[in-house]
Amino acid sequence: MQVDLRQSWWIRDIEIPTRLVLAPMAGVSVQAFRRQGRRYGAGLVCSEMVSCAGLEHRNERTLGYLRVSRDEHPLAIQIFGSEPSVMAEAARMVAAAGADIVDINFGCPVRKVTKTGAGATLLDDPDRACRIVEAAAGAIDIPVSVKMRRGLENGSRRCLEVGPRLVLAGAQALALHPRSARQMYTGEADHSLTAELVELVDVPVIASGDITSRARAQAVLATTGAEAVMIGRAAQGNPWALREILDDVPQEPTPEEIVAELVLFMRETVRELGERRAGGFLKKFYGWYLGRGRFPRPFKQELVQLETTGQVERRLFETVPGARFALARIEQDQPTVDDVLLEDMPISIYGGG
Ligand SMILES: Cc1cc2nc3c(=O)[nH]c(=O)nc-3n(C[C@H](O)[C@H](O)[C@H](O)COP(=O)(O)O)c2cc1C
Repeated sequence: MQVDLRQSWWIRDIEIPTRLVLAPMAGVSVQAFRRQGRRYGAGLVCSEMVSCAGLEHRNERTLGYLRVSRDEHPLAIQIFGSEPSVMAEAARMVAAAGADIVDINFGCPVRKVTKTGAGATLLDDPDRACRIVEAAAGAIDIPVSVKMRRGLENGSRRCLEVGPRLVLAGAQALALHPRSARQMYTGEADHSLTAELVELVDVPVIASGDITSRARAQAVLATTGAEAVMIGRAAQGNPWALREILDDVPQEPTPEEIVAELVLFMRETVRELGERRAGGFLKKFYGWYLGRGRFPRPFKQELVQLETTGQVERRLFETVPGARFALARIEQDQPTVDDVLLEDMPISIYGGG
């Protein structure tokens, strides 16, 4: 039986209009990525993980992650850290910035994070993990969710012990990426654990890991009972994957559509990060958009060598002139970035740094 991916569902009182969630990805999930994800059918989008210590110290760059635009709701902002009181304060700041959900990261396997006692290591310290969730949930009126791995070591089933306890502590939804932290991104996500977790808790479970096609999304939803699937790497430079998974229209985008989406993404990212940071940040996206056999490889290599994003944009339009019209059509359908960003910049309440 086919699951209706356009059916809405709820995280407590937050209605999520589709069963697709755009994954939080550090170095990827900028506002442009999230707004694009919403346009292509993600029902919920998520920021990359934000350091609670950075928020505590009012680090300017960290505060930048709290920019919320009007057209990305419902939006979860993800925080990471290991001190319950600091996480509670970070949750308050996230709620004040206008997010709909505070998501807590108990999944990051990267050493820089785990050595501070945050991310996936908290799965081995369930008491502290529960205190963090309790402190965050007690500090705010919006729901708290948790994203986690299966455990630290290969074969671990720790998520099945910790998950129900996190719900008792106040988590209103759980996202599970059923790989171990040790695995990083190798091997396969074992969604039989997702099915077991669904049986153990009475809050929505979101299945994350290796969902790259409509068939896979359908199979995971049907066999696990998860409320939604989360799409990560498949959507990098490829919002069309979301549309295909949602509506079963496996249609390759035209070169005009690809370049239009890329240029829009570049312009928004430059506004968000500034030209200098955006220049480096965007390089990986050229490959993601133009790869997959869509453009010849030397073209991408040429773009990566160019110095400014303005030069890249000119080169893209020279190569695919019709992209200008495709871009105008997209811009007609969405509020202009300046309106959205300037009106909703609650970051100013923190004085920026
Ligand atoms: C580049 C990259 C950055 C990521 N950053 C985060 C993060 O900040 N927070 C988080 O919870 N998961 C993060 N993840 C994990 C993803 O959210 C997702 O669980 C994982 O990639 C598996 O899903 P996929 O197979 O659809 O990519 C990241 C993954 C990638 C590839």
